[in-house]
Amino acid sequence: MLAELSQITKYYEQQDSSVRNHVLQEISLQVANNERIAIVGPSGSGKSTLLNILGTLNKPSSGKVLLEGVAVDQMPEIQLAELRNTFLGFVFQMHHLLPQLTLFENVMLPVLPRKDKIATKAAGQRAVHLIERVGLIDHMHQYPSQLSVGECQRAAVVRALINQPRLLLADEPTGSLDAASAEKLSTLLAELNREQNVAMVIVTHSMELAAKMDKIYQLREGRLVLGK
Ligand SMILES: Nc1ncnc2c1ncn2[C@@H]1O[C@H](COP(=O)(O)OP(=O)(O)OP(=O)(O)O)[C@@H](O)[C@H]1O
Ligand SMILES: [Mg+2]
Repeated sequence: MLAELSQITKYYEQQDSSVRNHVLQEISLQVANNERIAIVGPSGSGKSTLLNILGTLNKPSSGKVLLEGVAVDQMPEIQLAELRNTFLGFVFQMHHLLPQLTLFENVMLPVLPRKDKIATKAAGQRAVHLIERVGLIDHMHQYPSQLSVGECQRAAVVRALINQPRLLLADEPTGSLDAASAEKLSTLLAELNREQNVAMVIVTHSMELAAKMDKIYQLREGRLVLGK
């Protein structure tokens, strides 16, 4: 299995630490190679918490996270950082491109920790190819301030894919887009899944985007229910 959550529970302590906010209750989820999963649910139901636990950006209160069969709580931080940068790709609601870098430079950021010159050159070619694929080749040397939000978000998707991750995690990727841009990004994500050989777990409020995935889970009262 590519990624697996096993009996994940998460609670947050309140300020006075007498009350615990139980967000996730014994959640199990399996993500197969190339599988596309949507997670939907009301605001505050714990979708981001769940996604961040899967992406090792947040820790469960109990339960196990396995990535390619390896329990992440056993991994040293340096190995986890490498995993986040290569095995995983992240897309958030706001693109988080750096304003002082061009589109191309932003896309190449996750490649920087790699010291290998040949790998960096190959990534550069891959970047150009992907930028062209998402229709941004004419904007490659522009800065985020010169691009629309939809274009920035497509650039953020390319950046998430630049190190050829096996699992893309997206938290409301169409959340700040108008209907037309959201539709375009949804279609693109669905296509990139096959082309780039990458599984996806996407948190969304958009039923149009969710419907493009293979499975839809509802997160309600701390539990995941398969809806499709
Ligand atoms: N770091 C934190 N400390 C304390 N409580 C938190 C923390 N992060 C999230 N929560 C609480 O956990 C619950 C779930 O939050 P989460 O952000 O996962 O929900 P969500 O489903 O992503 O909501 P939305 O659709 O609005 O993004 C909320 O009640 C929230 O207040
Ligand atoms: Mg959220």
